[in-house]
Amino acid sequence: MNIHSHSPVRSGTGRRYSSVAIILHWTTALLVISMIPMGWWMVRAIDKPGTQQLAYQLFQVHKSIGFAILALTLLRVVWRLTHPITALPAGMKGWERLLARITHIFFYGLLLAIPLTGWAYVSAGWAIGTDRPLMVATSWFGLFTIPHLPGLEGMRMLAFGAMGAHAYMAYGGTLLIGLHVAAALKHHFIDRDGVLAQMLPFLRSKGHDVHHAPAGKALLPRSAGIAFVLLIGLVGCWLHLPGPRAETPATAAKATAPATALDSPVATASDAEANATAWTIDKAASSIRFTGTHAGKAFDGRFDKWNGDIRFDPANLAGSKAIITVNTISAKTGDATQEGSLKNGEWFSSVRFPEARFETTSFRPLGGERYEADATLTVKNKTIHVILPFTYRLQGDKAAGVEGDVELDRAALDLGMFSDPAAEWVSKTITVRIIVTATKP
Ligand code: HEM
Repeated sequence: MNIHSHSPVRSGTGRRYSSVAIILHWTTALLVISMIPMGWWMVRAIDKPGTQQLAYQLFQVHKSIGFAILALTLLRVVWRLTHPITALPAGMKGWERLLARITHIFFYGLLLAIPLTGWAYVSAGWAIGTDRPLMVATSWFGLFTIPHLPGLEGMRMLAFGAMGAHAYMAYGGTLLIGLHVAAALKHHFIDRDGVLAQMLPFLRSKGHDVHHAPAGKALLPRSAGIAFVLLIGLVGCWLHLPGPRAETPATAAKATAPATALDSPVATASDAEANATAWTIDKAASSIRFTGTHAGKAFDGRFDKWNGDIRFDPANLAGSKAIITVNTISAKTGDATQEGSLKNGEWFSSVRFPEARFETTSFRPLGGERYEADATLTVKNKTIHVILPFTYRLQGDKAAGVEGDVELDRAALDLGMFSDPAAEWVSKTITVRIIVTATKP
């Protein structure tokens, strides 16, 4: 409740908005005006190959600006509730004053409801354009990840309804912006009552007599403003609700995809048998990287945190063993959105499963410096059998280098199978490259 709007004595508060109110108003206005064409363009560009990559990046910009608008609006609401509002000119007719107040409340309502429905939509992780799951993290201008609203994942109807409300309220809001601007111009050029100058510091205000709303009169504009927001949101939501979902090859693929995974770990050589030389890994000269494609563009990532216990001797392959554990939350690609997504439940689920484990079961010589390791790889609760061909090269008496690539089928490890089972966004094959430089004690 606005504690000041009913105050009969507000000397001086009727003439100009405070600097904070003016800054909040114009920043929000500029951001909102940029969001409408941006939103319109990106939803149309996302499924065209030539514009998909740019649209994908724009989605992140759109979400980031949207969250900034939400934060600014919350700040504005607090400011408005704790500071006197600027009174309207006494010359305004009663219905004009009512319309003005309803419009203002309507704006506040939209500025909260549009970002919140956008947030609900992305939290549901369902792309309405393709009617498929698509969970993408929100990275705020690449600086940090904004979490999804809890409990909404996979809610298809909610995604359609929220985006219907989002679009209707956003486009409805543009009509209102038009009305708002027209009213401001009428005040300035026709009524010449200085109302526009209250918000535009460089315009000189002639000042005007002010009208203070009597106690109890604020309830009507508030209820009407909020009712309009709800009405337009509900209409948009209702008109957007989808029919039953057609079964697509992608959804069918999701059901059968992890068929190649072994759900129980395979047997491993015991530690007692691993009696070959233990090597000390030189972390600075070693790395675990992964490559693939995302939205048609190659990515190259690495794990920053991992450990290895390597006992390898070409003359004692039976007693050789390597165990590498990787901290999945340390995956870095240089793209905050991808990094945010990788931690999610459908990818590494890093909170539940912080570690991935690679453990060799046997080695084979392939001739010269070439070898091959049979190993198990456990990611989350999936364990698969992998073969890692590698080169082993001595570097003097005390050091050696190992280099190998393994191609992983992410479907077998149940990675990204909620949003992208058909590999339309992220390649199905992810190549992991292991480079280890180690020294003998
Ligand atoms: C005042 C702030 C915002 C405005 C004015 C706005 C406006 C729009 C507009 C006009 C569209 C195009 C709708 C269509 O043509 O179907 C759109 C789409 C979208 N908005 Fe916003 N938006 C805002 C905030 C947000 C926020 C905070 C988020 C997410 C956190 C968000 C997420 C989205 C997404 C994901 C789409 C595309 C939906 C699709 O895949 O079709 N928006 N927005």
